[in-house]
Amino acid sequence: MSDTTVIELSNVSLSYDARPILSNVNLKVRNGEFVYLIGPTGIGKSSILKLLYRDVVPDTGAVRVTEFPVNKISMKQVPMLRRRMGIVFQDFQLLDDRNVYDNVAFALQVTGEKPKFIKQRVLEVLGLVGLSHRRKNMPSDLSGGEQQRVVIARALANEPRILLADEPTGNLDPKATQDIMEILKQINNRGTAVLMVTHDYAIVKRYPFRTVRLIDGQIQDLAWKGDKLVPIKSPV
Ligand SMILES: Nc1ncnc2c1ncn2[C@@H]1O[C@H](COP(=O)(O)OP(=O)(O)OP(=O)(O)O)[C@@H](O)[C@H]1O
Ligand SMILES: [Mg+2]
Repeated sequence: MSDTTVIELSNVSLSYDARPILSNVNLKVRNGEFVYLIGPTGIGKSSILKLLYRDVVPDTGAVRVTEFPVNKISMKQVPMLRRRMGIVFQDFQLLDDRNVYDNVAFALQVTGEKPKFIKQRVLEVLGLVGLSHRRKNMPSDLSGGEQQRVVIARALANEPRILLADEPTGNLDPKATQDIMEILKQINNRGTAVLMVTHDYAIVKRYPFRTVRLIDGQIQDLAWKGDKLVPIKSPV
């Protein structure tokens, strides 16, 4: 893998209970790139993310994330791998019994950072998502869009090289969706690679970034031609 590639799937095949989902998938994401992953429901998009954070392992092929040969590392190394990436899901997954500040601080406490650093970093990432003023509120006090911004702040706390987002705007209205996209764009501008699964073509059109589609167990790169996304031949 070249220095500039942060994610690489090489000839990856994956099946669940002998049912094939991915067959010889190849995908490279470069440092600082923003990539949408689209495709029909049930096709295996979330499974691709799961391969990257080592929730599942491929039947064959290689998965690499930064310097980690993901499918070969020991369970002991998995936390280190996961520190390279922030992960954001569709359902917000905040801890209900602690406030916004503590939800974000938690991500740093588990990695053993010093209290002074934690405080500084939590306020910094909450500032980035525009929620410093809500730090003492409980998650239930916040709107869905605000909760998702807290999740993004938490995902960024460890300064990951990569942000994985699985339909991060799937439960949000258009205004909150736009807020999240502006934040993701800003994070990407600061150099973090973003791999985002989405069903929302309006977003893909409004915020144009490299777009790949998973179809028939394979990945293809797409480009806009008029109003349609069509396959292009360049290698993925
Ligand atoms: N742990 C598992 N065991 C068995 N089957 C699974 C498992 N995880 C996912 N699947 C199946 O594999 C297929 C791909 O699932 P995946 O969640 O990756 O799809 P997806 O493209 O993310 O779909 P959606 O757009 O609906 O989120 C689905 O048919 C799903 O039911
Ligand atoms: Mg999914």
